[in-house]
Amino acid sequence: MKENFGSINNFQKPKVENYDNEKLTENEETFKSYVEDLNLSSEDFEGAILDVGSGDGGFAKIAKKHYEDSNIHSLEPTDSIKGTPTGTRGASENLPFGDSKFDLVISHCAFPNVFIDGDKEKIEEQVRKSFDEFIRVTKDEGEIRLSNVLQGEIYENQRVITEVVNKALQDLKLEYDVEIEKIDMNKDSYEYDNENNPKRLLAKNFLIKIRKK
Ligand SMILES: C[S@@+](CC[C@H](N)C(=O)[O-])C[C@H]1O[C@@H](n2cnc3c(N)ncnc32)[C@H](O)[C@@H]1O
Repeated sequence: MKENFGSINNFQKPKVENYDNEKLTENEETFKSYVEDLNLSSEDFEGAILDVGSGDGGFAKIAKKHYEDSNIHSLEPTDSIKGTPTGTRGASENLPFGDSKFDLVISHCAFPNVFIDGDKEKIEEQVRKSFDEFIRVTKDEGEIRLSNVLQGEIYENQRVITEVVNKALQDLKLEYDVEIEKIDMNKDSYEYDNENNPKRLLAKNFLIKIRKK
């Protein structure tokens, strides 16, 4: 399917501020990947952020060390959320928050990849419900940013989720007052031959930005 979401730009890594690269713990590595992959700026940390598919909420915890006033809510459907101070158990398809609560909704290596193993009808429902929920809880002029969105053509399940996500993005543009940008993260994954040479492209990683006008 031909993509038509507006611009597909090259990915620019932001500078990670307040960072001592020599002393990265595992959680700090995660924080650094979030900042780079989601193109987070220091201004982004001034608003209310929702992290969808947060795992143990490590991003929110470490963010407090770098941005004392940060206000990050973690959302996760599994037990990993237990003990996370600003965490809620829940899933992207049914967000337990009121309308227009967040300046920025993010999902790092989670939505929509987590749905890849369903059948097409199920994936369509989960993807569309989640997009509607992200838009509902985002303030006007706020943004939704999804990183490491995997898109590939080789395996059937990849083809299905790629098609479903691309179609949902086209529909969102028609149904909501949003601007959508799909950015190639230049993190392609390959299948390798016996000599360790890349044989064929398995998937590309995209950063998807949806801005509410
Ligand atoms: C690969 S992990 C990424 C964790 C974290 N964002 C990171 O980058 O380190 C994907 C996470 O999404 C969560 N997840 C699975 N289904 C979900 C859903 N429907 N809504 C929100 N999160 C979901 C998983 O439990 C898991 O913690």
